This record gives sequence, C-alpha cells and structure tokens, in this order.
Amino acid sequence: MSAQKKQHDALYPVSKSPALKPHITAKQYETLYKQSIKDPTTFWSKQARIIDWIKPFTIVKNTSFKEEDFHIRWFSDGMLNVCANCVDRHLPQRKDKTAYIFEGNEPGDVRHISYQDLYEHVCRFANVLKQHKVQKGGVVTLYMPMIPEAIYAMLACARIGAIHSVVFGGFSASALAGRLDDCESKVVITADGAQRGAKTIPLKDTVDLALTQTEKKTVETVITVKHTGATCPMKEGRDYWLHEEVRHVNTECPYEEMNAEDPLFILYTSGSTGKPKGVLHTSGGYLVYAALTHKYVFDYHEEDIYWCTADVGWITGHSYVVYGPLANGATSLIFEGVPTYPDAARYWDVVDQHKVSIFYTAPTAIRSLMSKGDAFATKTKHPTLRVLGSVGEPLNPEAWQWYYNLIGQKKCPVVDTWWQTETGGILLTPLPGAMDLKPGSVSKPFFGIQPELLNEKGQAIKRTGMGSLVMKDSWPGQMRGVYNDPERFFKTYFSKFKGYYSSEDGARRDKDGYYWITGRMDDIINISGHRVGTAEVEAAINTHSQVAESAVVGIPHSIKGEGLFAFVILKSGEDVLYVFKDEVLQTIGKNIGSFAKPEYIVIVPGLPKTRSGKIMRRLLRKIAAGQVAEIGDVSTLADPRIVDKISEIVVRTFKENT
Ligand code: WTA
Repeated sequence: MSAQKKQHDALYPVSKSPALKPHITAKQYETLYKQSIKDPTTFWSKQARIIDWIKPFTIVKNTSFKEEDFHIRWFSDGMLNVCANCVDRHLPQRKDKTAYIFEGNEPGDVRHISYQDLYEHVCRFANVLKQHKVQKGGVVTLYMPMIPEAIYAMLACARIGAIHSVVFGGFSASALAGRLDDCESKVVITADGAQRGAKTIPLKDTVDLALTQTEKKTVETVITVKHTGATCPMKEGRDYWLHEEVRHVNTECPYEEMNAEDPLFILYTSGSTGKPKGVLHTSGGYLVYAALTHKYVFDYHEEDIYWCTADVGWITGHSYVVYGPLANGATSLIFEGVPTYPDAARYWDVVDQHKVSIFYTAPTAIRSLMSKGDAFATKTKHPTLRVLGSVGEPLNPEAWQWYYNLIGQKKCPVVDTWWQTETGGILLTPLPGAMDLKPGSVSKPFFGIQPELLNEKGQAIKRTGMGSLVMKDSWPGQMRGVYNDPERFFKTYFSKFKGYYSSEDGARRDKDGYYWITGRMDDIINISGHRVGTAEVEAAINTHSQVAESAVVGIPHSIKGEGLFAFVILKSGEDVLYVFKDEVLQTIGKNIGSFAKPEYIVIVPGLPKTRSGKIMRRLLRKIAAGQVAEIGDVSTLADPRIVDKISEIVVRTFKENT
C-alpha cells in the first residue's frame, strides 16, 4: 500500500483530550441516534426545549415526501420569536457576557458587544425598520460587510417578523438586482463600504447601481451603515443613514409572536438550471436544529470562545455565526477581513489573541494558508483551541492532516461537517469525543438524519457502496420551499428519487458506516465553497455581443477546490485576442461577481454535441482536466472530430499559461 493511500485510510481514535467535555459518548450517540430515528416525535419534542416557546407545540413532526401528500411541518402549532431566543432570554443570566467580539480588518480594531448591547442595538434597529413601514412578512434585503450591524439587522427582522434576504457582498449589482426583483424587497440595508484586506468595496454604490437595474422597482428605502467613512451620494426620500435614524427611536421594541412555520429568511442559492432559488427557512424547526447541532457538533460549552469564519451572506453565517450560537448564549468572534491580511498568520494571531477555543472554517482557507508555509501557523501552539471544524467542500486528507497537526497540535478533533443551504444545519459530521475520525470523511449522520445511497436505478445501496446521497425523512432544519415558486421545491429536490430528499451530492459509505462525499452530481461547481451554477456563468458569458454559445465545466483547483473552465464559440468564428477574454471576465464580474470568473477561457470552433444537440459535458470535463486519453468512445457525437480539435486548443492554452 502506498504512503498516500495509507494516510487516506488513517483512523484517529476518539479523542481523550482533557480539553473536551463531550456532551455524549460513542455509546450514547448510538442510543440517541437510534431513538431519534425510531421515535422522532419523542426525541424532537424533548430536544426542542433547547429553545423557549411562547406557546408550546403539541404537534411535533408532520411531514411527507410523497408527491400526493407532500408537506413539511415541524412544531406547527408552537409559537416563538427567534430574536427573543437569541437575545432577550439570555439577559437575566448573561447580560454582561460578550455575545460578539468584532475583529475589524485592521489588527487592533476590536469591539466587544455584550448581550445587553446586542439587545439595545437590535431593538433600535427593529424600531427603525418599523418606522420605514417594514411589517411582519415583508422582505428586507441585506447587502452588508461582516460587521455587527449585519447581525443586528438580521435579528431586527426576526424580532418584528420580517423575512431577511442576505445577499453576499461579493455579488454584483446585477445579481443583487435579480434577487431584489425576485423577492420584491421594499427595503435594503447596506453599508458605505466593506474592508477586505487592502481593498475597500463600495457596497452602497453597488446598491445604487442595482436599483437602476431592477425591473420591478419595489425598493422604497435604503438604510446605510456608516462604516468605512466613504462618501456616498444619498437620494432624498429613499436613502437614510442608520446612525441618524436610530437617534429618533426607542431602545425597547416588543417582539412579535411567530408561528413555528412562519418564514424566518430567504437565502438565494445557485441551482443547476435557471436563476438562483430563494431557499426559504422557517422559524421553529430551523432554530431548534441550528442550536442543537451547534451544541453537539462543536462540543459547545458556556465558557467557549467560538469562531466561525463564514460570512453572513452564506448559510453557514446564518446558522453558525448568528442563530445557532446565539440561541445557545455563546460568545462568538466575527472578523471583517481576509485570512492573508496583513499576512497569512492573521487567523492564528486572532485565535491566540482572543483565546478562541472552537474554530470553524472552509477547506479553501485551510489550503490557501497551508500554501503560504508552516511558519505562519506555528508561531504558537494555539493552546486555547479545543475543536476544529470544516465546511463547504471536501476537506482533502492532506489539508485535514495539516489542520489537525499544526493548528490543532494533535489534540483537537477535526469535525468535517457536510450540509447545504437547503438543509439549514449540519447533517453528516463527527461528534467530538464520541467518534473516531477519518481524514476525508464526513463521518456519520446527526440525530434524526437518515441518509441513503441510491444507485442509478434509484435502489438503496445497503452497507458499503457509492451512489446518490439522499435523505429518507425530514428533519427540523430542512428548507420549506422556494420563495415564490412552490412547484420548483418539489421538482428540484423530490421528483428524481421518489420519497427522498435528493442532495445532488454523491457519496460513498465504508464498512464502518462512515460517509465520504464524492462531489456534486449536477452542474454546480463549488469554487472556494461558493456554489456557482455553470448555467449562470454561461448565461453571463452569452450576454457578450460576440459570443454565439458557451459551455462551462469545473476543473480541480489546488486552493479553491474547483475552478471554472469556459469553452466559447464566437459568432464570427474568428480566432480572438486576449482583449476579448478580459471582456468576458468583466462580463462575468458584472453579472455574478468576481468569484465566478473562470481560470481558463478558450475559444473553440464547436462543442461536442450529441445528434440531438445536447452538449456532452462529461467530455468537456475530461478535456479541461487534461485527461483526453480517458475520453473513450465518441461515436455518438454529431461530429466526433471536434474532440481532437478542442483538445489541441486546450493543450496549447495550458502551454501558453505555464
Ligand atoms: C458541498 C454549505 C464535501 C456539497 C454549508 C454541498 C461539502 C454543497 C461539505 C452545499 C463537506 C458542503 N464535504 N462537500 N464537508 N460541505 N459541501 O449550499 O457539494 O453553500 O452540496 O452549503 O457544498 O453548499 P452550500
């Protein structure tokens, strides 16, 4: 067996580190897990007490994945307020406890926000929203930097029953405009700018531009946080500064009583077809699931300093920067900057300075810091760390080992957590102190989660094997719909394999029942943990006046996990200059955001298509990855010669770039 293979099969027995105070043992996990599957009603009715209910529920689980009776409802007669659970209920015991430590872009820019501070900021913000006619059920869009005000805004919405839609600050004006139109938002919350390392990003300017691009023109109010001090033109009657608005409002704001199934937020995510979907999450089940997973997966305890590096623009930021940790009364660190500014030791300096004990990040960050050399990571032994987490894409065993050995100093379990925007919270994960760890594996199902692997015929694979990863039954954190498009929900996730939630990921199960994610099975590419639909990128490229057609596929990338490779056919058919490629890159930046720019753009005379005109993406993926020898039979193509032609162009492009 090669050294490489050996390393990949490595097994790290359950950690006995005294720093861990696991909530459960391996045996208790087995027992509780079995209970959660056999009798979900008893299990979840007990676990749902992790949050406070204004009116307790009497119905626990009311769900069916069957087409004729499709519905997903949890705790459906219970009443609660998510914001009250995250803020108010901690005041008696934790009012002086720090809810957030804000670490700004520049080292030394630090703010501590106690639960009492949080309460006051959120109430005031909620009153500002009310003054601007935001009501229960209305949608408020956030386009924000990673600053405390983003969290105040989310909680303010939850407090008054408004639905927030956070759009990641890296999206372009056009992408923002599309999302504003889709949910018909009347209010946008933004900031004058964001600071990301040496760069300042003019968020308010982008909002202004987006508002000229919306078709429906629903936005009536823009509230701007003063953060970078950049000057912003303010439009009379539409634009307001937050710091001026809060002067006129009360510090108290009663919270709305919400039903467990009332919407909490929408979060747009790329699908393999069509425009991004507004994934809808509701209140009760989502919060229970976020809180419970946060507690068990990270071995969370009252005195922890917890840092999840995700931006609030993504689901990880929603569930594990805001709702999960706050429901548990945690102290979280939030960071506006980037891991490499001022240098590649920044994360680890922050960990040491603020005595972070639980650290949760993405593989792309780990790989990028790993590539900068060990010296940055080993300035100290990071003695306060207890648990390390990873999410968003496969954590390759090499990166796992580096994270475990150098950052965790062989004493912190690495929890590689698998989940999706749609799942609301973590579904597959190790539990620290209760499970052996295998680098590269996302281990086992959390309580109440019933994964299955299906073969091409849709039959369940028993024991070991590889197939489509699906869930057999519902869990409380599951999404409840696609905003404004009820049919798309069932069609996208439940129609392919009858009776199952289809994740569109592939996975393998080993002899110990551990799961290993093999990657997406649809046309979604995971770039640095950002989901990008190839269809969206193609649509953006095709807006260029010279483009006739394009096809985009994913290629392996050593830091980002995956990158994009674009094949473009021009209208004129001419061979074209680099200027054109720059223009295409700009077009993508404008339509989606810089993170969706391809690594390679090649101009090709044609694309491999079947006789019925379908692009054979499988072939393009092989060509783009330089695996032409593995292509095999191409006789079903309308023009088999095209494969050689494209391959030649690609090889030439690779040569030019090295
Ligand atoms: C991928 C992020 C391997 C997967 C929370 C999934 C992962 C998609 C892992 C969801 C992991 C997430 N190992 N792949 N631990 N975690 N993925 O919606 O393909 O941004 O379907 O949610 O990321 O991405 P999303």
